[in-house]
Amino acid sequence: MQKEDSFLPDLLCLKLKEKLHIRKEEGNYRQIQLQKTSKIDFFTNDYLGVSKNDLIKLPKKSNFKGSTGSRLLSGNSKEALSCEKKVAQFFLAESSLIFNSGYDANIGLISTIIGREDIIIYDEKIHASLRDGIVLSRGKSYSFSHNDLMDLQKKLDKFSTIKNVYVIIESLYSMDGERAPLKDISNLCEKFRTKLIVDEAHSVGIFGENGKGLCVENNIHKKVFARIITFSKAYGFIGAAVLAKEEVIQFLINFCRSFIYTTALPPLAYYKIEKILKKDLSRERNALIKNIQYYTDCVNSAQIGPIQFIKCSEFMHFEEIVRKLKKVKIFQKIIKYPTVPKSEEGIRLTFHSFNTKKEIEILLSILNPVK
Ligand SMILES: Cc1ncc(COP(=O)(O)O)c(C=O)c1O
Repeated sequence: MQKEDSFLPDLLCLKLKEKLHIRKEEGNYRQIQLQKTSKIDFFTNDYLGVSKNDLIKLPKKSNFKGSTGSRLLSGNSKEALSCEKKVAQFFLAESSLIFNSGYDANIGLISTIIGREDIIIYDEKIHASLRDGIVLSRGKSYSFSHNDLMDLQKKLDKFSTIKNVYVIIESLYSMDGERAPLKDISNLCEKFRTKLIVDEAHSVGIFGENGKGLCVENNIHKKVFARIITFSKAYGFIGAAVLAKEEVIQFLINFCRSFIYTTALPPLAYYKIEKILKKDLSRERNALIKNIQYYTDCVNSAQIGPIQFIKCSEFMHFEEIVRKLKKVKIFQKIIKYPTVPKSEEGIRLTFHSFNTKKEIEILLSILNPVK
């Protein structure tokens, strides 16, 4: 018996080693490295420079305490309550609930609201956090081809007799930077009486009036069952929120494990989120849009968004491009499998309000031969 016990860890260890070895062989081995901040930034999600330029200052005599517990125990604060009220008002929602991250919000919302008797239809390119929520929900799930309305309709047709069907999409896709046909999808969901969940992680702060997001810009926000927004991208900070009707939020407070069983953000974080939303970022937004426009005009891209993806045509060639970019102080990494399917590997460029025309020209001088 004792022999078997001591044998087991070795077997397990071998399995882990083998898997890591395969990763290395395939060139996909992940390492946490301290990145030198690249001089020219086409890499971070700090689209408006909120983080880089430390746009949100603390009052001189601030006296914020640590969190001390979960929101349902000692971790609640007047800052948290005030922040949730302001977030709901700002994004034109009935109610909001703050989570420690977008990942927590997505796995929590989806696994709590959707049950094993429900059907989920999701865009094949949704973020890993939404997928993990789907797995945890134990609902039956089916993907539809990326942004393909016909395929979505086909799937909705198939399941229209089932009571609870949820459609899950992003408004601006985090990898390829494409926008969802929000109005059409919302109309389809209305026609088939299904509930629509939209992850707006990459569109809030940038699109819609004062950065209220693409659901507001398309005037579908009242029809959407729930929106997920993050403060970790254009708002340059941390944390996320679910925006939904009051009864959905109350349900999450009562049943959502990634909300209940975790220490709350410290009061300072809620304070900062509220301050970020009060800040007029229109100058930064305009500068960002101008930079995107300049780049898209130069490369003939129809995609107006801060994320511009260049698919790898030839892998080795792209390694060379990454090396060349590094020489001119532009840090990039190839987005590889398993983050994206093998056929979708490439370079994910992100544009910012603070990029200069000269920087974009340097980038283009290296990328242009690729096009
Ligand atoms: C579409 C999308 N949703 C959710 C998340 C998770 O957000 P967070 O980084 O705040 O956990 C990300 C982050 O990469 C994302 O791209």
